[in-house]
Amino acid sequence: MTSPYRPLSGEDSSRSVPASLTIRRPDDWHVHLRDGDMLRAVAHYTARQFARAIIMPNLAPPVTTVAAARGYRDRIMTALPDHADFQPLMTAYLTDEVEPEELARGHEEGVFTAAKLYPAGATTNSAHGVTDVANIYPVLERMQQVGMPLLVHGEVTDPEIDIFDREAVFLEKVLTPVLADFPSLKVVFEHATTEDAVQFVTAQPEIDGSPRIAATITPHHLMFSRNAIFAGGIRPHFYCLPIAKRERHRLALRRAATSGDARFFLGTDTAPHARPAKESGCGCAGIFNAPHALESYAQVFEEEEALDRFEAFTSENGPRFYGLPLNEGTVTLARAEVEVPDVLTTGVEPVVPFRAGERTSWRMVG
Ligand code: DOR
Ligand code: ZN
Repeated sequence: MTSPYRPLSGEDSSRSVPASLTIRRPDDWHVHLRDGDMLRAVAHYTARQFARAIIMPNLAPPVTTVAAARGYRDRIMTALPDHADFQPLMTAYLTDEVEPEELARGHEEGVFTAAKLYPAGATTNSAHGVTDVANIYPVLERMQQVGMPLLVHGEVTDPEIDIFDREAVFLEKVLTPVLADFPSLKVVFEHATTEDAVQFVTAQPEIDGSPRIAATITPHHLMFSRNAIFAGGIRPHFYCLPIAKRERHRLALRRAATSGDARFFLGTDTAPHARPAKESGCGCAGIFNAPHALESYAQVFEEEEALDRFEAFTSENGPRFYGLPLNEGTVTLARAEVEVPDVLTTGVEPVVPFRAGERTSWRMVG
């Protein structure tokens, strides 16, 4: 990372902050791009900041076949401006019925980078998800054989379990046996929200000197705790799944993200929903953070005095875990403000972005 460190005027000179940061082009390892009008409205935000992104398959209907993933990949590329230098990395949506050979073929043909486990009913468009992980054991066996990573939405769906405990219970009841039964299956624990998840990931033994489990961390889980959802009233734009937890969990996530530990990397979980679907008697889960994702992460790293570890989190740990090359080229962020709009027009319906109406402290400039 090349950065001319100098103190900001008016700031403590013992804490020097660079005027700009130039880092290797980053990737986003967890993105919802949607389809149709919404895809056309949002795809460019991700492509502007990131070289590649893991594309979540929870469309309606979900992306369960190689043909569906190819079609979706084509629609993503068509939705982008002509000059966009962006590679969507496609994922398969696991159902109780998915065929192991379909996944293995998709992986071999370079269409499926990974497969996503949604416990049925856990989140948006997860009705076709897995009802019992035992149902996909033949699939996991095949994925382990071909070296295809399993991405997990790590929450149990039992309504008896308190919503704030669903991640911790998943780790114990679902993920622990899966890791034991498939000792060389690579796993990404998506959008970690708890100290339990951080400890779980760091406690797992490596395979031949490489981590077999990693976790993505979102900007929103780094920036607010559950209090924000209820500050002065109910705030639907802070609602996502897994739901934000207590402050001590947020602090554990910040320590993990900024630690330099290669098992933690950037995954925004940007998840746009039209404003009426969020501001509703039964509002959808999801935070649309793509427009200023890198700026938000940079702010967290600055606050934690860990800007020297920013590039590893944004641009190195993810590709190394997935066994993909690091990107060529760079992006530059300047220590300058941007005002986040209150609302973005998507051509059809408005979408409220993460940090609407706030000022970021970093600005992507190239
Ligand atoms: O908040 C979320 N929104 N969490 C998810 O797991 C899915 C996502 C979506 O697709 O809207
Ligand atoms: Zn997601």
